[in-house]
Amino acid sequence: MNNSTPTIIFENIQKNFGSLKVLKGITGEIKRGEVVAVIGSSGCGKSTLLRCFNRLESIDGGSLIVNGINLSRPTVDYTQLRQLRSQVGMVFQQFNLFPHLSVLENMTLAPRKVLGKTPKESAQLAALYLEKVGLYEKAYAYPEQLSGGQKQRVAIARSLCMNPQIMLFDEPTSALDPELVGEVLQVMQQLAAEGMTMVVVTHEMQFAREVAQRVIFLDKGVVAEQGVAYDVLTNPQSDRLNIFLSRLNARAF
Ligand SMILES: Nc1ncnc2c1ncn2[C@@H]1O[C@H](COP(=O)(O)OP(=O)(O)OP(=O)(O)O)[C@@H](O)[C@H]1O
Ligand SMILES: [Mg+2]
Repeated sequence: MNNSTPTIIFENIQKNFGSLKVLKGITGEIKRGEVVAVIGSSGCGKSTLLRCFNRLESIDGGSLIVNGINLSRPTVDYTQLRQLRSQVGMVFQQFNLFPHLSVLENMTLAPRKVLGKTPKESAQLAALYLEKVGLYEKAYAYPEQLSGGQKQRVAIARSLCMNPQIMLFDEPTSALDPELVGEVLQVMQQLAAEGMTMVVVTHEMQFAREVAQRVIFLDKGVVAEQGVAYDVLTNPQSDRLNIFLSRLNARAF
């Protein structure tokens, strides 16, 4: 497969929660090695879309193929789900580290349980990725002893231990104090530069403009605008995106 091979292909995705229609026919693709930012107002369906990509939610209509695994059907067999979860990493706003486990234990758990690595192999992996996010010295710390930015860098490193082919980020910097946002974005920028396929739900427009190749703007469960990140964010075509961006700017200044 080369770089232009789509790794997530979605067509007319529908998702409902009871009578609430959240995704109303979303179509697009994410190519291998691409960084795509998903933006839009609160409640427009960004997290739901991302959660469909690693099957934390099932879709109610349309088709969805992630890394060759067909997630269009109501049921997906266990082997495929396991395969999907090891290929697709996800990083959440609230870090989701296990509070009772050290950084090292947080990081070695899934490689041992899911990938069958030995304690030694998984510890070596953890050391490698902790080094990468600049937190090697925190291996024996507990989450409560870390700053928000450090916790999120550990969460990213933990995902990387599974050797994922796609990384999903759901507002990874939204819970952080402003001065800690940069250290997390820097780690993400490095990952992007190394060619990781990334889908990033974010309100960080500068990051979206500079690091993402493409932007998808969701509005009320549909794709209202999408295209090359720089173009979409500097010269929005739709009124909705214009309003959304000017509101964000108004909040920033
Ligand atoms: N498990 C659920 N059950 C019922 N409704 C849900 C569920 N998850 C999400 N929703 C609803 O679906 C809509 C879209 O939610 P989603 O979390 O995808 O929005 P979002 O774009 O990520 O918003 P935010 O920017 O606030 O995170 C919202 O109206 C939300 O209340
Ligand atoms: Mg959300």
